[in-house]
Order: sequence, then structure tokens, then C-alpha cells
Amino acid sequence: MFVAAFLVFASCFRTTYAQSCDSVEEGYQCNSEISHNWGQYAPFFSVASDIDNSIPSGCDVTFVQVLSRHGARDPTASKTAKYNATVLKIQSSVTSYGSGFEFIKDYEYTLGADQLTTFGQQELVNSGIKFFNRYQALASATVPFFRSSGEERVVESAQNWTQGFQQARSGAENVTSSELYPFDILVVSEADGSNNTLNHGLCTAFEEGPASEVGDAAIATWISVFVPNITARLNANLPGANLTDTETIYVMDLCPFNTVANDNGTVSPFCDLFTADEWESYGYYLSLDKFYSYGFGNPLGPTQGVGFTNELVARLTNASSNDHTSSNATLDGNQATFPLGLPLYADFTHDSDMVAIYSAMGLYNSSIMLSNTTRQTLAETGGFSTSVAVPFSARMYVEKMTCSGESGNISVGEELVRVLVNDRVIPLESCGADALGRCTLDAFVSSLNFAQSGGLWDQCFT
Ligand SMILES: *[C@@H]1O[C@H](CO)[C@@H](O)[C@H](O)[C@H]1NC(C)=O
Ligand SMILES: *[C@@H]1O[C@H](CO)[C@@H](O)[C@H](O)[C@H]1NC(C)=O
Ligand SMILES: *[C@@H]1O[C@H](CO)[C@@H](O)[C@H](O)[C@H]1NC(C)=O
Ligand SMILES: *[C@@H]1O[C@H](CO)[C@@H](O)[C@H](O)[C@H]1NC(C)=O
Ligand SMILES: *[C@@H]1O[C@H](CO)[C@@H](O)[C@H](O)[C@H]1NC(C)=O
Ligand SMILES: *[C@@H]1O[C@H](CO)[C@@H](O)[C@H](O)[C@H]1NC(C)=O
Ligand SMILES: *[C@@H]1O[C@H](CO)[C@@H](O)[C@H](O)[C@H]1NC(C)=O
Ligand SMILES: *[C@@H]1O[C@H](CO)[C@@H](O)[C@H](O)[C@H]1NC(C)=O
Ligand SMILES: *[C@@H]1O[C@H](CO)[C@@H](O)[C@H](O)[C@H]1NC(C)=O
Ligand SMILES: *[C@@H]1O[C@H](CO)[C@@H](O)[C@H](O)[C@H]1NC(C)=O
Ligand SMILES: *[C@@H]1O[C@H](CO)[C@@H](O)[C@H](O)[C@H]1NC(C)=O
Ligand SMILES: *[C@@H]1O[C@H](CO)[C@@H](O)[C@H](O)[C@H]1NC(C)=O
Repeated sequence: MFVAAFLVFASCFRTTYAQSCDSVEEGYQCNSEISHNWGQYAPFFSVASDIDNSIPSGCDVTFVQVLSRHGARDPTASKTAKYNATVLKIQSSVTSYGSGFEFIKDYEYTLGADQLTTFGQQELVNSGIKFFNRYQALASATVPFFRSSGEERVVESAQNWTQGFQQARSGAENVTSSELYPFDILVVSEADGSNNTLNHGLCTAFEEGPASEVGDAAIATWISVFVPNITARLNANLPGANLTDTETIYVMDLCPFNTVANDNGTVSPFCDLFTADEWESYGYYLSLDKFYSYGFGNPLGPTQGVGFTNELVARLTNASSNDHTSSNATLDGNQATFPLGLPLYADFTHDSDMVAIYSAMGLYNSSIMLSNTTRQTLAETGGFSTSVAVPFSARMYVEKMTCSGESGNISVGEELVRVLVNDRVIPLESCGADALGRCTLDAFVSSLNFAQSGGLWDQCFT
């Protein structure tokens, strides 16, 4: 145990310095002009915040819910087979490689499937350290209540996060909590039919009906706009390959996935085959996909985030959860599996579920649909992109605080709520956010009427 802890510390120390592209505080920073446009395949990076994201002076944070995505992984099993086939297709048909493309001749496809990479594990260790440091006052006195969705990479991410948290905790002064490491993690099954607020799957009309095709249709339009020119350039440099637009996207995907397969996050040579402008279009394609599959662009997307949002209300208000969507009443009705009144909660999930949850909470609700023919800026999408919202190891912090001074119409000691996504304060516009992005607890909870009324869950089974 002692040796293991030392090794974790040593490897973290190393990644904090120049050899690595990743760090606890800033996240992934190599080639940021392109790597910050890799959508949900971008490694976590600290997103600039218009509002000062430090804990406001005179305020005490009394509660934090962190909702975290798993860390960087290998491609999914179906994608890894397609990537491998695309590489083999190129290598078996091309005899003369264009300038800059020569490395592909000897490139060997070695990526696995579905599991965290070592780099991805370290991202979660770093996330646990960062959380402890930010919320040290609370985290020294108590360990969070942990839940994880059941897929292996998610559970392992939760474990790696606890390792980072424990590493920071064991080196900290004034720790009064007595919990022994390892900490308990409540794992909620992803099996068919399982009620799980950290994994969609129950809502039949969403999983199988027309709603399940909205995202594919939206990206098909955008792919036909931005990809053909790139395909033409690849085919000119890879004569004989005759790549399709879909295969061009696979070649682009090889950039982030080969990057996160490097322990230190060294940028893959595949990344240099494309311009910064093309990476922006690629990031937009990944954002469109999630927006129309799980966000406001999908008629049933936000509804998939209702169960978690109702659990959040329960935790924020110290009152029993009142949800009739995807939550498990047996778990949520038991103080052992859904304890109330705690200051710290940590949950681990997937990107798609986080997009649905953000939407159910009304975050990034610009009430405009993303264009499927023209690339929009972050300002035009209401601040939403998958790169800034759900990269690998993404984390949302929901903070409750009380403050000693008055601010606007907020009185002394009133409970306030603030939300940060990857270090960016997301102003709670639906409840009249103050200059620091906050609402009173009452106003915030009232603004969650979409979730509290069950979203459109009644349309799931019609
Ligand atoms: C790639 O495909 C080839 C041919 O089917 C197979 O032999 C090889 O094991 C695959 N490589 C990986 C990493 O999946
Ligand atoms: C992440 O957690 C797994 C499972 O506990 C462990 O085997 C692995 O060493 C951890 N990774 C790091 C970077 O600490
Ligand atoms: C630990 O407690 C001492 C005494 O109250 C205080 O001076 C010190 O700042 C505390 N350290 C931290 C890291 O909070
Ligand atoms: C709810 O949770 C209980 C306790 O873990 C479990 O036995 C049951 O199968 C779950 N039910 C559903 C529908 O997920
Ligand atoms: C593309 O966007 C237009 C207008 O925003 C919309 O009417 C159309 O349904 C969208 N098409 C797809 C396939 O999503
Ligand atoms: C594709 O290339 C053509 C010809 O160079 C150019 O006119 C067009 O604007 C390009 N399209 C995109 C989306 O870049
Ligand atoms: C290129 O692939 C397309 C199908 O994607 C096929 O119709 C066409 O015949 C191929 N061209 C060559 C030269 O192989
Ligand atoms: C990073 O890792 C790669 C292989 O994973 C290695 O080739 C490279 O030398 C390493 N770079 C540094 C600066 O440590
Ligand atoms: C699971 O969810 C379904 C659909 O909302 C609900 O009918 C059922 O009562 C839930 N089961 C449990 C154990 O909460
Ligand atoms: C939560 O409510 C319970 C009982 O309703 C109460 O005993 C407890 O003190 C409350 N906790 C907090 C943090 O308000
Ligand atoms: C999003 O904004 C629209 C327009 O203000 C509003 O009608 C809708 O209820 C909001 N959605 C959520 C989930 O808060
Ligand atoms: C302050 O009061 C105004 C007017 O009553 C209201 O719209 C706003 O939501 C309040 N601000 C907060 C942070 O509660």
C-alpha cells in the first residue's frame, strides 16, 4: 500500500512537469489550438471562465456535487475494428505516400477497445487531487459519497479519482476525517432494464424510436459540407486509397486516440495531417452529434438527464428524492445507498449522459438549434461544445455556498448555488444569476421544473 501510494505520487509528480502534456491544474495543453477542438475525444483542459471561478471571498462552500466523465480510453470495440480496417486499406492499396503522409506506411495499429488508457487513468488521479485542493476545507473533514455507473472504464475512473483524492488528503494538514482508503463506491448496473441515473437506456422511444435517428441525420448534413475537400486531399496524397468521407473521419479520429494512447499524451503524427480550421469543423461535427442525440436538439434528450437532476435536488435540499423516471426507488429510498445531508458527493458516468443532465438542468440553454450547415462559434451555441463540456475526464461541480456579505438582493447567510463545468462558471440564467453566476438555492430549485415534472418521460413508452 505504502509503495503503491509512493508510485502514484511519483508518476503524478512527473506529469506535472514539462515532459507531459497534462497537469493537475490546467489539464491537457499540448497543441491546444487543435487539441481543444477534439470534442469528446479531447483530454480535459481547464476552460477559461468569464466569471472568476475562485471561491468568492467571504463565502464558505458547504456542499459540492461532482459529476465526472471517465478518462481517456481506447476506441469503442466497433470503432477500433473500423479504424484498423481503414489503416489496412490504405497500406494495402497505396504505394507512394505524399509529403507528410509517409509515416502511415510503417504505422502499426495497436489500439485496444473500450478501456481506459494509462494516460486516461492519470487524468482521473489528477482530477481527484484537484478536487481535494479546491475543496480542502470540506474534503479534510469528510470523504465524498461515491457512485459509479457499472461499465468497467467508469468504475476504474472512480477508483483512480479516489486514488488522487487520497494522495492529496494523505499529504494535507488538518485532516480530521477518519475514513480509511479504499473508499466505498456504489456501482449501479448498466444491464438492460436497470434503473440507473448515470446511464441512459430505459426510455424506449429514445433508444429505438425516431428520436434515436435525429443525431445521425444532423451530422450527415454537416459531414457533406466539411469533409469532401479533406477526403480529396487525403486521396491525392494516398493515391489508390480511395477513402470515403466516413473513412476520412476515421483517419481524423486516429489523431486523438493515438495521442491518448501515449502515456505522456504526446501528440500523434496523424494530427499534423489536418489544419486548425479542419479540427474546428471536426469538433463542431462531434458537438452536433451530441447536441442532436442527447441535448436540446433531440426531443427526448434532456429527459434522459431528469433522474440525476432530481437526485441532485434531493441532495441540495436534504429531502427525499422525488423521481419517476430512471432512478431506482429501492436505492434512492435507502439512507445507505442514497444518503442525504452530506457535504460531498461524487458520481461517475459517460459523456452522453452528462450532455443530457446539463440539458435537464437548463445549462447551455440558448434555445437555438445548432446549424447543421454552417459552423457556429461558442458564443453562437450558447457556450456549448463537446470539447469544453464533456472531454475525457470532464467534471461538473455543483457548489452550494453561504456568504457573510450581502450581494445585490441576496441576504447574509442565504444558501446560493453555482455550477462550474471544467473550471468555467456556467451562469445560471434560468433563475436570474447574479454577477458571479449564482442563484439562491430556492430560485435554482424552482428553475428545475422541467426535471421535477418528469421531463417528457411519459413519451418514452408511447
Ligand atoms: C487489425 O486487423 C488485422 C487483420 O484482420 C488483425 O490481424 C489485427 O489483429 C488487427 N489489429 C488490432 C490491433 O485489432
Ligand atoms: C487506476 O486504477 C486502477 C484500478 O484500481 C489501477 O490498476 C491503476 O494503476 C490506476 N492508475 C493510475 C495511473 O494510478
Ligand atoms: C491547519 O490548522 C492550523 C491551525 O488552525 C492553521 O494555522 C493552518 O493554516 C491549517 N492548514 C491548512 C492547510 O488549512
Ligand atoms: C434497484 O436496485 C436494487 C438494489 O440494488 C436492485 O436489486 C434492483 O435490481 C434494481 N432495480 C432496477 C429496476 O434497476
Ligand atoms: C438541418 O437544419 C435545418 C434548419 O436548422 C432543419 O430544418 C433540418 O431538419 C436539419 N436537418 C437535419 C438532417 O438535421
Ligand atoms: C472546398 O474546395 C472548394 C474548391 O477549392 C472551395 O470552393 C470550397 O469553398 C471548399 N469547401 C469548404 C467547405 O472548405
Ligand atoms: C472508390 O470507391 C467508390 C465507393 O466508395 C467506388 O464506387 C469507386 O469505384 C472506387 N474507385 C476506384 C478507382 O476504386
Ligand atoms: C512520451 O511517450 C512516447 C511513447 O509513449 C515516447 O516515445 C516519448 O519519448 C515520450 N516523450 C517524452 C518527452 O517523455
Ligand atoms: C424503474 O423505472 C421504471 C420506469 O420509470 C419504473 O416504472 C420502475 O418503478 C422503476 N423501478 C424501481 C425499482 O425504481
Ligand atoms: C438533513 O435532514 C435531517 C433530518 O430531516 C437532519 O437531521 C439533518 O440535520 C439535515 N442535514 C443538513 C445538513 O441539513
Ligand atoms: C430552455 O429554455 C427555454 C426557453 O427559455 C425554456 O422554455 C425551456 O424550459 C428551457 N429548458 C430547460 C430544460 O430548462
Ligand atoms: C434578484 O431579484 C430579481 C428581481 O426580483 C430576480 O429576478 C433575481 O432572480 C434575483 N436574483 C437572485 C440571484 O436571486
